[in-house]
This record gives sequence, structure tokens and C-alpha cells, in this order.
Amino acid sequence: MTDVRFDFGTGRSDPATFPTAALQAAAVKVIERDRELLTNYPGSLGYEPLRKAMAKREGDREGVSVNPDHISLTNGSMQAVTLVAEALTEPGDVVITEEFTYPGTLSAYRSLKLDIHGIGMDEHGMRMDLLRERLVTLQTDEQLPKFLYVLTNYQNPGGTVMPTFRRRELIAIAKEFGVPICEDNCYGDVHYEGEVPPALFALSEKETPEDGVEHIYLGSLSKILAPGMRLGYLLAKPPMLDTLLARRHDAGPNTLSAAIAAEFYQDGIGEHCATSNPPLHAKLQRLTAGLSEELGDLCHWSNPPGGLFLWLRYPEDVDQKKLWKLAEDAGLKFLPGISFHYKLGKAPFLRLAFGHLTQETIIAGVPVLADCIRRARTSNEAPEFPNNWLEFET
Ligand SMILES: Cc1ncc(COP(=O)(O)O)c(C=O)c1O
Repeated sequence: MTDVRFDFGTGRSDPATFPTAALQAAAVKVIERDRELLTNYPGSLGYEPLRKAMAKREGDREGVSVNPDHISLTNGSMQAVTLVAEALTEPGDVVITEEFTYPGTLSAYRSLKLDIHGIGMDEHGMRMDLLRERLVTLQTDEQLPKFLYVLTNYQNPGGTVMPTFRRRELIAIAKEFGVPICEDNCYGDVHYEGEVPPALFALSEKETPEDGVEHIYLGSLSKILAPGMRLGYLLAKPPMLDTLLARRHDAGPNTLSAAIAAEFYQDGIGEHCATSNPPLHAKLQRLTAGLSEELGDLCHWSNPPGGLFLWLRYPEDVDQKKLWKLAEDAGLKFLPGISFHYKLGKAPFLRLAFGHLTQETIIAGVPVLADCIRRARTSNEAPEFPNNWLEFET
């Protein structure tokens, strides 16, 4: 196998902005200070100062007050993604996702033998007309989903941000059909430009506090700090919180990791994000500039206002297997569209992650990608798609 030279595969934070010295100092301090807590089990909510820091993070961004006792720290947000399904479903139950979504979620839900229904998307994320249609059908069949899993900000992989008007529609639909919402906002603070619409739980709280919609909200430190620290969290009010925690059997999250992060973020996450986000944005701009030069006539791609991915659509006449083989031989890695599709549908897309790459690797990698795509084509016709969304239900 050829060595990977251009790794556009995994969504990671930027190693160059990892705050080594500050975390070292925090580690020395907390190991001494928190000896008592470190020699005990954390319990299912986890280290309180980090819960307070994350409640502040969410509360500051959303303009609502967040109770730290409604937050449970997890081993990355992935543990929370899985826990929600373990707690709310039985094998065979229906859950709703976007048509293209995070492969980790899909593989967890597949392994729990859930019946995943993917809802088509457009430039605003999950389409509400299609969601409503599907829920009407499922209701007739007495198979309403156990929850809706939705990526509202910098959707992985599509890069979309769901606008406020659509968030309101989503909340109204969840209320009408009595289905809980699980909002995964794992990229929420990897923000580059534009307004950030309110999180669903905050929107409900501000505008329709009596709507009775059950919200589960997931956050992470993987994308703003480091995935190796394995820190994420879920936020939910009782009794939903109790239902979720009843299925938690791991004796709680990692106190040392949580204590180091809490010490680092004692004055909020703002300062570090102000340092770590601009280089990510510059890399995205470098990537889109390179693609415009190399593939402007052939492909369409997202230009997300945040997050760690670009979603690229290539012509239907590209032979996917040939593309993957050419890429592998060239030492180029990306994730193919099929891995994000809820039914593993063959889709003319690929996802490029850019956060951990150097500018030089991006500059050198884009022409290699363009060459692979061109060589994998089976015709010379001009592509006809106007945007990044499929016009058909797959
Ligand atoms: C949408 C989404 N949710 C959850 C995760 C899991 O991240 P972590 O467990 O590192 O917080 C990822 C990771 O890429 C993701 O893209």
C-alpha cells in the first residue's frame, strides 16, 4: 500500500494550535490539587468544574442559563451519541437522521440494529417537507421514530447551517409528532464567519418554553481542543437525563482529562478559539482556492462558515472504484460519499478534512485530487448539476 501523503480523511483539530505548555501547567496543578477526586470514581455526571465550564460555554453562546447538573460528561461526544440510542431504543426501532450524516453515528445505530431513515437535505440542512412526509407515513404504520438525530451547525459532511426559520419548523414538527430531538453540535465553536443561529434547546426555551419538546444536546471538546482528550457531553433535563444515565454503566468520565480541560478553560473557551479558528479558516480558504483553480469546471463544493470539512460533488460519470484506486495509489486519502449515506447509497461525493493539514499539503494535494477525478471519468461531457444536493430520494 502506498504511504498516505495527503490525508484529507479524518476531521481533526490543528496540532499547531494545541496548547501544550498551558495544558502541561494545568496538569501539574490539578494532579496535586485534585488528588482526592482522582483517587475516587467520578459518578455519571463527572467532574463538576468542567460541567460548569461547559454550562458557561453553552449559556454564553446561546443566551440562556444552563444548569451544570443537567450536563453529563462523556468519553467524547461519541459515547453520548451511542448512549442516547441505547437508552431510547430497542432493536428494530426507527430513528431519523439526515440522508448524509456522521459515519460514527451510522455505525453505532446500525450495530444497535436500528431502522435508520435518512431525510433528504438542501443548502439549509435536513428538509422539513421531507421530514414531515416521512413522519406522516411512519405514524400511519405506527412506527414513529424514537428520536430525531440532527446536525444543525456545520453539518458533517454537508457543511450546512440550519437557519433559524427551519429550526423553528423542526421544533414544531417534533412537538406535533411527540418525537425527542437529539441535536449534535459537536462543531458548534469551530466558527469562522456569519451569524450562528440558536441551538434548538435554547430556541425552544426562549420562544416556546411550554412546548413540551424533549431536547438532548451534544457537545464536544474534540473539535476545539483535541480528540485525544476524549471529552464530550450531553445536556438534557430530567426526566430525560435520568433515562439516559440509567443506561450508563462505565462508572463515569475521565476525571484527569476533565480537570486539565477545566483548568485550561477556567476563563471560558473564547481566548483559545480566537487562536485556533483563524488558521482553520485560512486552510479552508486555501482549499477552496485550489479547487476553484483545478476543478472549477467539473465539481461543486460547500464553503462552510465553520467546521472541519468540505463536501465535494463530482460528475456522475466518475467511476468511483477507479477514483478510490487512483487516490490510494497517489497516497491521497478522503472519505467517499457512500460512508455518510444512511443506506450506504452510491453517491457522487467525497469529503475533505483540512484541519490538521499544513497549507503546503493542501496546496500540493488538490492537483493530485483533481488529476484522480479527471482520470476516473468515463466521458467528457460537461456536468449538469447546479448544486451540492441530490435531486432524487435515494
Ligand atoms: C457529528 C459528529 N458527532 C460526534 C463526533 C464524535 O466526536 P468526539 O467523540 O471526538 O467528540 C464526531 C466526530 O467526528 C462528529 O463528526
